[in-house]
Amino acid sequence: MWKQRWTKVLVFVASLGPIFWLCWRAWHQNLTPNPIEYITRYTGDWTIRFIVFTLAVTPLRKVLGLPDLIRFRRMIGLYAFFYGTLHFITYIWLDKFFDLPDMLKDVAKRPFITAGFTAFLSMVPLAVTSTAGWIRRMGGKRWQLLHRLVYLSGIAGVVHYYWLVKSDIRLPAMYGAMVGVLLLYRAVQYGRTLQTNYQGVLACMPYVDKLDEQLQKAGLRAQKQVEKELNVDAKELDKQLAEAEKEMDKS
Ligand code: HEM
Repeated sequence: MWKQRWTKVLVFVASLGPIFWLCWRAWHQNLTPNPIEYITRYTGDWTIRFIVFTLAVTPLRKVLGLPDLIRFRRMIGLYAFFYGTLHFITYIWLDKFFDLPDMLKDVAKRPFITAGFTAFLSMVPLAVTSTAGWIRRMGGKRWQLLHRLVYLSGIAGVVHYYWLVKSDIRLPAMYGAMVGVLLLYRAVQYGRTLQTNYQGVLACMPYVDKLDEQLQKAGLRAQKQVEKELNVDAKELDKQLAEAEKEMDKS
């Protein structure tokens, strides 16, 4: 079922839901008395949610036995970047109106802004290299390594949220727990892969010993062969030496 094309369209349209809802409310002038704050928070919430969705794809594939879920990961990750960009633009445009000195003051005064920047900046290379062409150019291993940056986005996003709330830390703690569990899952998987590889090496050891034995035997045989040939040569050499000595005695 997940292989079918319409499921991708469904996920694509569903992911546009939050932005449509925001536009709908804006159209009906229903963005609370402080629209900029509302939009900042709304887009921030959807960014962290989409980061969590992205991180959840691989564990869900394994736990639910649905390998085809991988088809949606890139799209969901790009939606995280989309909402993150809207959130960022809301801040630099609607909130600060491109006033760089004011933004720098904000960075110095409110450390959560720096954490937000870290989260956003770490998403940029992921979005840029999300195409098949980049996977080919970078090679699967290096691409995968780079894409682990999504964990940095998740952690920095949670820190950003945790630092900005004044008293009620329930929501940032919930997202923190989700990112933590998903990270732990990946760490356990990684540990298991290492263990499997190690066991694989151990399982190969008897064969390595046998191979070594065979090589030694082959080496011995070759050595004997060479010795045999050298012996023939050595006899020939002895004969020639003896004849030469006789010749010398005669003269
Ligand atoms: C991946 C990157 C980011 C994530 C996941 C993220 C997430 C969030 C979340 C969850 C909120 C709180 C929403 C709420 O209260 O319901 C928030 C608020 C906010 N974020 Fe971000 N954010 C990110 C990047 C940034 C960046 C780059 C900036 C600015 C440079 C920024 C500036 C703000 C501001 C000003 C608020 C509102 C703070 C307040 O209400 O006092 N965020 N963000």
